[in-house]
Amino acid sequence: MAEPIRVAVTGAAGQIAYSAIFRLASGAVFGPDRPVHLSLLEIPPAMKVLESVVMELDDCAFPTLVGVEMTDQANQAFDGVNAALLIGSRPRGPGMERADLIRVNGPIFVGQGQALNRAAADVRVVVVGNPCNTNCLIAMSNSDVPKDRFSAMMRLDYNRAKTMLAKKAGVPVTAVTNLAIWGNHSNNQYPDFENARIHGQPLTNVITDQNWLQETFVPDVQTRGAVVIKARGSSSAASGAIAALDHLLSLRQPTPEGDWFVAAVLSTGEYGVDPGLIFGYPLRVKGDGWEIVEGLTLSDWGQVKFNKVLDELRQEREVVKDLL
Ligand code: NAD
Ligand code: LMR
Repeated sequence: MAEPIRVAVTGAAGQIAYSAIFRLASGAVFGPDRPVHLSLLEIPPAMKVLESVVMELDDCAFPTLVGVEMTDQANQAFDGVNAALLIGSRPRGPGMERADLIRVNGPIFVGQGQALNRAAADVRVVVVGNPCNTNCLIAMSNSDVPKDRFSAMMRLDYNRAKTMLAKKAGVPVTAVTNLAIWGNHSNNQYPDFENARIHGQPLTNVITDQNWLQETFVPDVQTRGAVVIKARGSSSAASGAIAALDHLLSLRQPTPEGDWFVAAVLSTGEYGVDPGLIFGYPLRVKGDGWEIVEGLTLSDWGQVKFNKVLDELRQEREVVKDLL
């Protein structure tokens, strides 16, 4: 049997983790032939609930699950892991912006960044906890793990946008490709319909209602998280978990020819973004890492959206500069 893949999940007693952990354990993510070892991190008040999660894992008798550890120590949780899903943090409630969480959640990622030094050399770190781009920047800045191992999750925005476009065009979601989400997992992200394709054709040749694209589609993707919170009373959980697992898989497998996936990664100046920001880009897997898809163009309208979200990330970085 193959060597087990060791996966750390933080916030393991929380809502997103409850949807993610069982998929990881079942083989649905890494396949039926890859054993999985889970390392579950929580804070002390949540350890009792975490015990119940582990009881349920036991009760599933998953053939792929070869070990589970629970801990409230980040150093222990990240020891030797090949993947780390950093979910543990406070979610926003109704009426809040994700950036309102920055001084509450940001400090969590200082210690976790340091503890990630104990991870395996091939570790991939996926930051989910909000505001995820800037929390990723904090974790990366406090760690000796190579910077290209860190990414923050824009995948839920991508999945949301894909479904909205597919529904509008009356096509399956698989027909929508080349969809970029630029910038921040926030209300200012730019879901880029301009470079997207449907069945290989420019999307704007298929969906010709420019007013819908600009005035309905873009704001609906930007604000979808808040709409779910309003309806559910708490933030999206199952869809967040699926997006985190999609993200992790996209980093580990070849990108389909002619397409890309999205994640927020360290900018080294691509598309005029300040080097050092964690910015949402279209990516392709290259070797055991990734590369940013270059050469895409935006209209003046799209560039205004892009500049706005870039400015927001600059401001977020300023707010946490003492943690970097
Ligand atoms: P939740 O409150 O259900 O669970 C969070 C868990 O994190 C809790 O069990 C809590 O005890 C734990 N926790 C808090 N501090 C911790 C720490 N220092 N170490 C380990 N665990 C800790 O929340 P949730 O619904 O699972 O959401 C978690 C985070 O994910 C929130 O910040 C939310 O906004 C974010 N989120 C991001 C996306 C995205 O697209 N990037 C999508 C959905 C949710
Ligand atoms: C989402 O987009 O659903 C999550 O980031 C949760 C939130 O606060 O909106």
